[in-house]
Amino acid sequence: MKIVVLGASGQLGHCLKKVAEERNITDVSFPSEQDGNILDANLLDILFSKENPQFVINCAAYTAVDKAEDEIDICRKVNRDGAEIIAKSCLKHNATLIHVSTDFVFKGNIPQLLSETDPAEPENIYGLTKLEGEQAISDVLEKHFTLRTSWLYSEFGNNFVKTMLRLGGEREQLGVIMDQAGSPTYAIDLAGAIFDIIESNSASYGIYHYSNEGVTSWFDFAKTIFDLSETSVKVNPVKTSEYVTKAVRPAYSVMDKSKIKSTFGIEIPYWRESLKVCLARLS
Ligand SMILES: NC(=O)c1ccc[n+]([C@@H]2O[C@H](COP(=O)([O-])OP(=O)(O)OC[C@H]3O[C@@H](n4cnc5c(N)ncnc54)[C@H](OP(=O)(O)O)[C@@H]3O)[C@@H](O)[C@H]2O)c1
Repeated sequence: MKIVVLGASGQLGHCLKKVAEERNITDVSFPSEQDGNILDANLLDILFSKENPQFVINCAAYTAVDKAEDEIDICRKVNRDGAEIIAKSCLKHNATLIHVSTDFVFKGNIPQLLSETDPAEPENIYGLTKLEGEQAISDVLEKHFTLRTSWLYSEFGNNFVKTMLRLGGEREQLGVIMDQAGSPTYAIDLAGAIFDIIESNSASYGIYHYSNEGVTSWFDFAKTIFDLSETSVKVNPVKTSEYVTKAVRPAYSVMDKSKIKSTFGIEIPYWRESLKVCLARLS
């Protein structure tokens, strides 16, 4: 079975590479952005003709959430138009698409679990363009698995865990938001779930939620990172109202993962356990 990963140079792309190596999944290609630019339909046509993939995993995205508020056009181009271009290429080449989306498609203003069928009401440009990308895919392609995830981190790329470890080494104290709740996701676990879905041979296409198990705040997440890594730094709780960002973020964004677990038999690790694994690998 041939798999092509687009956006391979990003965080999740690196994690897919690592998990493919660990599981000895060899028929996966990771083209560079030059060879797999998702905005270039001709390039994808050439790539898919050459590779003839059964599955295409799209990790490519515009992910700068605050910057997106000022760069609406480029953000929409990558997250909406890029998703549509990939979907059309998958249709043409009879490939199944595994696309990655975000909990930011939800408003997240009430403390209740978010299911795949709950209404999406994005509060920021990034979330809006990711939702438009989801819709563009489902308009074009039946054979897609769209996985919404949240708070991704890993030993690769830029993410909250690596930022905290760096700041913890530089400062004596720092302030972290305490009134936004969500579920961290170790991108290695997500990569594993993606390969599980591929290996399941399932035709239960559609939207699925995936994060690690459990709920926390950015403040508690930071405290746990420092406790587990034995970093001595004082973490001060900060309210969202005291830390103004360009993009509005959900206050409570916890996704129900029952569907992905029951459909594919996927077991999801608790966030603290996965964080321990990541910190061990980072050290
Ligand atoms: N990170 C999170 O906390 C988070 C949370 C929820 C959902 N997600 C979703 O999870 C997925 C993976 O995120 P990530 O953390 O791996 O993001 P990432 O590290 O920012 O990776 C995205 C990659 O896409 C590449 N890219 C941008 N435009 C492209 C194009 N036209 N053609 C090909 N590649 C292009 C980027 O390259 P450049 O760096 O050169 O632009 C980057 O390497 C994304 O769909 C994201 O929306 C992420």
